[in-house]
Amino acid sequence: MSSSTSVQIALGERSYPIHIGAGLLSGAELLESALPRGPLLVVSNKTVAPLYLPLLKAAFGKRPLAECVLPDGERYKTLATLALVYDALAAARVNRDGAVLALGGGVVGDIAGFAAATWQRGVAIAQLPTTLLSQVDSSVGGKTAVNHPGGKNLIGAFHQPSVVVADLATLDTLPSRELRAGLAEVIKYGLIADPEFLGWLERELPRLLARDRDALAYAVERSCLNKARLVALDERESGPRALLNFGHTFGHAIETALGYGEWLHGEAVAVGMVMAAETSARLGWLAAADVSRVREIIARAGLPVAAPRIGVARARELMALDKKVQGGQVRLVLLKGLGDALVTADYDQAALDAVLLAEVG
Ligand code: NAD
Ligand code: GLY
Repeated sequence: MSSSTSVQIALGERSYPIHIGAGLLSGAELLESALPRGPLLVVSNKTVAPLYLPLLKAAFGKRPLAECVLPDGERYKTLATLALVYDALAAARVNRDGAVLALGGGVVGDIAGFAAATWQRGVAIAQLPTTLLSQVDSSVGGKTAVNHPGGKNLIGAFHQPSVVVADLATLDTLPSRELRAGLAEVIKYGLIADPEFLGWLERELPRLLARDRDALAYAVERSCLNKARLVALDERESGPRALLNFGHTFGHAIETALGYGEWLHGEAVAVGMVMAAETSARLGWLAAADVSRVREIIARAGLPVAAPRIGVARARELMALDKKVQGGQVRLVLLKGLGDALVTADYDQAALDAVLLAEVG
């Protein structure tokens, strides 16, 4: 195992560490010290389990790990799949002295997290993210959910993990398209809150695309530091945590309109960030040169900058289901500058209408 770092999520008695390093899944100490002593259930999927479950089992030695291997894909992020996890929890006799280990990307993490949040009114969970997106975003902060046909992540709960172990070596097997999708959420942190990181990303993007281990380690750590700050300020998203949804109101509408899985979450968020930047520019809040910088870094990451033509009416209908809607008003995360975001319902609707017409009409 090479060097590792840790980022702390400071939430009082619900605080926990995110351990980041290559080879971390080869040892069980970080997990055993954070989890209760009872039965353990690993939730994974058909793609990830053959790659990394044997490693995890070897790390736990004689301590048995029950397993629940789900079908792979966003379209299985449903109540029906969740029921499979409950069946496995019952079969493995996981009580409140047991725990769930989520081994996989954001889909596995969100389903397993919601199962852990609700099984016996809450059991411990360790997140073991194996995609870039899940290492920099979904495994951290306690949001768990499954989708409803009417919208993304509409059925869920906040349930913080006891520990996150991000093994950078797992990224070696990640398909390139998935790596790029993860970069969308990395770029998001630069755009909403961290202009210095944005500059670093603009310089170092080629190293990230080439999977340089040191560059990935830095990007994961810096992303987690940004997320840790916002989650510690606002665990349940009544304020600044909503900034993490930059690009997501547009992106979720695209994902839902196309059918879950057609576009990857990170791809939809990427084009959603372009649309949010365009809206900010139409409002006179963001300079044209800054919109160009947003477009450029997203395009250089190999991510889409043009939205699919889902139609203005459908986009509006789906955006109205966004979890940030208050009093019937769609609140958007917009930019006042690069690295300076705000969440607001106080914008000229005409600017949003113009962007929707231009991008999805
Ligand atoms: P994913 O979980 O579908 O994983 C992407 C693909 O990569 C899958 O086919 C998976 O089996 C495969 N895979 C995973 N790890 C691999 C590895 N190491 N090697 C080879 N293949 C591997 O997608 P994702 O991008 O990780 O997560 C997207 C999901 O995360 C969405 O459902 C989104 O809503 C959710 N999300 C949640 C939060 C949150 O805060 N809870 C934040 C952002 C996104
Ligand atoms: N991915 C958004 C959040 O965790 O709040």
